Amino acid sequence: MGVKIVDTALRDGHQSLIATRMTTDEILALVDDMDKAGYHALEVWGGATFDACISFLNEDPWERLRLIKARCKNTKLQMLFRGQNILGYHHYADDVVDMFVKKSLENGIDIIRVFDALNDIRNLKCAVDSTKKYGGHCQIAVSYTTSPVHTVDYYVNLALEIEKMGADSLCIKDMAGVLLPEAAYELISRLKKSTKLPIELHSHCTGGICEMTYAKAIEAGVDIIDTALSPFSGGTSQPSTESFCYALQGTKYDPKLDIACLKRAADTLTKFKDAYLKSGRLNPKALTCNPSILKYQVPGGMLSNLMSQLKEQDAMDKYEAVLNEVPRVRKELGYPPLVTPLSQMVGTQSVMNVMTGVRYKMVPKEIKDYLHGLYGAAPAPVDPEIRKLVIGDDEVITYRPADKIEPQFEMYKEKYKDLVRSDEDVLTCALFKQKAVKFLTEKYAPKQEAKEEDEVIEFSLTL
Ligand code: CO
Repeated sequence: MGVKIVDTALRDGHQSLIATRMTTDEILALVDDMDKAGYHALEVWGGATFDACISFLNEDPWERLRLIKARCKNTKLQMLFRGQNILGYHHYADDVVDMFVKKSLENGIDIIRVFDALNDIRNLKCAVDSTKKYGGHCQIAVSYTTSPVHTVDYYVNLALEIEKMGADSLCIKDMAGVLLPEAAYELISRLKKSTKLPIELHSHCTGGICEMTYAKAIEAGVDIIDTALSPFSGGTSQPSTESFCYALQGTKYDPKLDIACLKRAADTLTKFKDAYLKSGRLNPKALTCNPSILKYQVPGGMLSNLMSQLKEQDAMDKYEAVLNEVPRVRKELGYPPLVTPLSQMVGTQSVMNVMTGVRYKMVPKEIKDYLHGLYGAAPAPVDPEIRKLVIGDDEVITYRPADKIEPQFEMYKEKYKDLVRSDEDVLTCALFKQKAVKFLTEKYAPKQEAKEEDEVIEFSLTL
C-alpha cells in the first residue's frame, strides 16, 4: 500500500502563507477537483480558519463547512482541534468541548486531529471521548519539539498512552519544521515498532529540509504525510502534493493520486495565488526557506511576531538578544513546545525580559496562569526560583485544569439568547465573544449596531 496523502492547502496552506484569508467561494472552486483526486483526507477547518472567517471575511465558518461537505462526496474532511482550548486560547468547560465536537461532526468533519500544546494528555481526554462517542475518527497529534526531555523514548511512551486513550491514529505535529531527516527516521521506526496506530507526519518547509525529512519518514514506514497543493506549498507551508506524487511514482510508496485532477485544482489555485501576491497579502518572503529557524528552534510565525513586536517599539537592535532569551525562558518554564498559545507566551516574556532589562519584572497574565498549572503540566519541572519570583507561594494545581470549570454551554445559550439561532451560533459566541457578537449581529440584523460586550470570566478557578 502506498503512502496516503492529506492535503492541507485549504487549512494550514493558506494559514501559513496568507493568514488564512482564502474565501469560501475560492475553496469551493477547488474542492470538486480535489475531491476526485484520491486523497486520504482534506484538511479544511479548525486552526485559524474559524477566527479568520468571522473576524476578517464576514463568513460563517459552519456554513463553509457544510458547503464543502456537500461537494466532497469521496474524500474525508479533517479539522485541527486544540484539545480543551477547542479553537481558542484558553480552557473551556467539558460540555462546550463536547458540543463543539458533536457539531463539527454533524456539519461534515470526519477526522478530528486533536492536540495539546504541552502534550498533557489530560487536556485531550474530553475531545477524544466525545469524538469517539459521536462516531468520528480521532487522531491525536503530539507536538514535536527538541529539548533534553523530548527524546525518542518520551515520544514512544506518549504514543503508548495515546493508543490506550482510544485514538484511531497518531500524528507527529512538527509545527516549527525542525524535525531533521535522521531524527524522523529514528522516531518513525521506533513508533512503528511500538504501536499499531497508523502514523501521520505533519511538518513545514520553513527550514528548507521538509522534503528530506518526509523522504526518510516514508522509508521508515510512515503511513500518511501532509502536503499542500503546489501553489500553496513550500516556504512556511507544507511540501507540494504533486511533487511527492511524481517523486514516489512507480515505487511501493506511490500514493496513486489522479495527477490530472491535481493539475486542474492547482491551475485554479494559481489564479487566486497570483491575486494574493499582487495585493500583497502573500508576501514572497513566506515562500522562501529560512534555515535559521533550525538554529533558534522556533516556528517561523513566532520569528515574524517577535520582529513585529520589536519594530513597533523601535527596538530591532534587540532582535538577537531576544532570540537568545527565548531558549532561556523556555528552559525555565520546563521546555514547553513552541506552539499556540505557548509560542506567543514565551515570545512575549522574552521580549519583556530584554526590553525592561530586568528578567520577569513584567509578566503577562498567561505566564502567571501557566506557572499556576492552569495550562496543564509542563513537560519538565519549572525552575522553582522563577516560579517563586513570579507567583510567590501561590498554590500550583496538579489536577486537570478543566476539572474545576463549571459547565458553560447553557450559560452561553442564555447569555446570547437574543442573538443566536442555533447551537452552532452559541459555540461561535462561546469561543469568540465580541467578535462573534459583531459577526452574528451583522449576519442577522445588518443595520443594527453591535452592542458592547462585558467580558465573561473564563477561568472560574479560585487560587
Ligand atoms: Co502546521
